[in-house]
Amino acid sequence: MAVDYTTRDGVAVITLNNPPVNGLGLSTRIGIMDGLARAERDPAISAIVLTGSGTAFSGGADITEFNTPKALQEPTLATVIRAVEASAKPVVAAIHSVAMGGGLELALGAHYRVGVPGAQIALPEVKLGLLPGAGGTQRLPRAIGLEAALNMIVSGATVMSEKLTDSGLFDEMAEGDVLEAALAFARRVAEKDAGGTHPRLRDRKIQHENAAGFIQFSRNSVAAVAKPFPAPGKCIDAIEAGVLKGFDHGLAFERECFLALVQTPESRALRHAFFGERAASKIPDVPSDTPVRAIKQVAVIGAGTMGGGIAMNFVNAGLPVMLLETKPEALERGLATIRKNYETTVKKGKLTQEALETRMALITPTLSYDDLAGADLIVEAVFEELGVKEQVFRRLDEIAKPGAILASNTSTLDLNKIAAFTTRPGDVVGMHFFSPANVMKLLEVVRGEHTAKDVLATVMQVAKRIKKTAVVSGVCDGFIGNRMIEQYIRQALFMLEEGALPAQIDGAIERFGFAMGPFRMSDLAGNDIGWAIRKRRYAEQPGMHYSRIADRLCETGRFGQKTGGGWYDYRPGDRTARPSALVDEMIVAYSGEIGCARREIGDDEIVERLVFALVNEGAKILAEGIASKASDIDMVYLTGYGFPLWRGGPMLHADTVGLYNVERAMARYASQQNGDAWEIAPLVTELAKAGRGFNG
Ligand code: 3HC
Ligand code: NAI
Repeated sequence: MAVDYTTRDGVAVITLNNPPVNGLGLSTRIGIMDGLARAERDPAISAIVLTGSGTAFSGGADITEFNTPKALQEPTLATVIRAVEASAKPVVAAIHSVAMGGGLELALGAHYRVGVPGAQIALPEVKLGLLPGAGGTQRLPRAIGLEAALNMIVSGATVMSEKLTDSGLFDEMAEGDVLEAALAFARRVAEKDAGGTHPRLRDRKIQHENAAGFIQFSRNSVAAVAKPFPAPGKCIDAIEAGVLKGFDHGLAFERECFLALVQTPESRALRHAFFGERAASKIPDVPSDTPVRAIKQVAVIGAGTMGGGIAMNFVNAGLPVMLLETKPEALERGLATIRKNYETTVKKGKLTQEALETRMALITPTLSYDDLAGADLIVEAVFEELGVKEQVFRRLDEIAKPGAILASNTSTLDLNKIAAFTTRPGDVVGMHFFSPANVMKLLEVVRGEHTAKDVLATVMQVAKRIKKTAVVSGVCDGFIGNRMIEQYIRQALFMLEEGALPAQIDGAIERFGFAMGPFRMSDLAGNDIGWAIRKRRYAEQPGMHYSRIADRLCETGRFGQKTGGGWYDYRPGDRTARPSALVDEMIVAYSGEIGCARREIGDDEIVERLVFALVNEGAKILAEGIASKASDIDMVYLTGYGFPLWRGGPMLHADTVGLYNVERAMARYASQQNGDAWEIAPLVTELAKAGRGFNG
């Protein structure tokens, strides 16, 4: 039963009971309608309390129902809310925790609302590329005022109920048991309202001195940041419709906008990301009830670029960290960098000096491995050399307590080899953070051949504690993200040879929506990093076809921003990438040298070759089981590589284009110059033939 019906001394209690968040799917909506009808029929009932069981009043419409016939099947949420509002007996919503989206809209349809502090209140539809579609844009401004409501609706932000005590949303803010308070409240209003009508938000006027001016101001501010998402603008349009033309007109317009937005690729992408994030935390063969190991003390080895950032993650979550280095100078340098990072946050007003000191106090610097004996989780972030990793892991095997998790932040080395340096490979796992590690959301959790299931479950839980999006990857060169990006960069370099220039390639892919094109990115990270990887490739896979054009650049010492020039020129202290005549000439000369007649390459080709190179490698990664689902690959790209959120990641983008079209394009590029780089993944062909996508 998705809804329970009970009575308490003349008051009907309709309790949403649809775990995990009391989503308002069809069965819940039917249950509420039945409850209302039953209460109406029963002469012994004088009032109705609407509440939720478990940890939510309601998390809103059931997102899994969107774009299915059930979503539009009566009773729709709009019908349910109309019935609540029209009830002859007063309806009191009792809100003890999450009231979001359709859940809040349902409560706004009630005649009264009783809350308790600590409840999360939001209309977060905009974060799913939607607008509140069941009256939220009309009733919330009437409850809490135009400005506060517009801000909540356009941002989708969660506001704690205690901050809304005097906002007009709640008729009573209770302490203690919300149901008891709501029952008492319901009895009082049943008496007060007897024979009369019950207050409805639809009848309230929106008070504002200059509503039209405020709305126009908001529209301008939102337009600047919302691009290319249509939803925030539609939220304002719907609010405006209600302000200018009245409640019923606003409601009808809101519905129209909702139905249109739910079909947009932007909304599909955001919903994909919402579920993708949650799906990533589930590992097919690791049950969700797998017991986890207690993590109370962390250690980080290496206080360099990554180690410092990694340590910050843990202390930010209140976990004490032992930070180990080989030399006192390195330790001091590492600690100073951490402090400097925190100081920048303090200057921005996002951290107090006191909190800074508390965090620094959680870090214990050390030069001795013996101090790590009590650590529950040890993350290694030393130089990327197998010999150095061997030394560290052999030492850790000697001193770490039984059951301690030994993690490596390696980005290119074989985790199975690292695990084999210990006598406990089951305890070894990869925790591949991205730079800057204290900022980037992504964490690739690398599952070695012998990594124990409870180690994986523990690391996934720790990732949540430190607010990372964790995605499990099998062991392969580059794991999910870097293995794919290598093919993307390979295509970018081929296109330089064939006729494009860095600024053109970067411009095309940035207009597609990437935060930064491959050449600006490479200049930022340092062109020497890619050079080192390529050198290794040339030795390990001599048959692999690479453009040597980037090696030419590196041979001139142009490693990027840090050397004042790379693919672009940079002025001292200025990160603006300026096209370099010298480099562009070098590129053109290189084409001549290798006998390649340069041609005009259009933006469409640039984008397709870059993005489909990701898709092709992603398909191989999926087929090999390195990633367990397509949405995991998308989460890696959305959270770690600046892939445009509104396209939902490379694999969803391929589905949107259609794998039939993707495969045809790949085949076309395979027949062109440098076409040997296109070995079309069998999975792409198979799905294209079946008329399916990576995501079903
Ligand atoms: N529909 C369907 N499933 C939902 C859901 C919803 N509205 N909200 C959450 N879930 C599911 C999650 O997918 C997850 O499922 P899983 O266990 O199978 O992975 C489970 O509920 C628990 O979710 P979380 O892991 O996110 O749990 P938290 O406790 O961390 O957070 C929450 C709870 C704050 C409610 C969070 O889930 C959330 O923000 N949910 C989305 C709320 C939302 O966007 N509501 C608006 C929906 S659109 C709408 O209402 C349209 C209307 O205007 C017409
Ligand atoms: P770094 O050179 O900035 O820092 C390495 C630190 O380890 C130095 O401070 C060094 O003194 C210390 N160190 C070396 N040997 C040690 C030992 N035996 N015991 C204790 N400390 C030792 O290097 P960075 O960039 O932080 O990289 C560290 C690891 O993180 C590497 O495995 C790298 O592949 C990986 N990584 C790096 C990323 C990046 O963008 N820099 C991104 C993701 C992973």
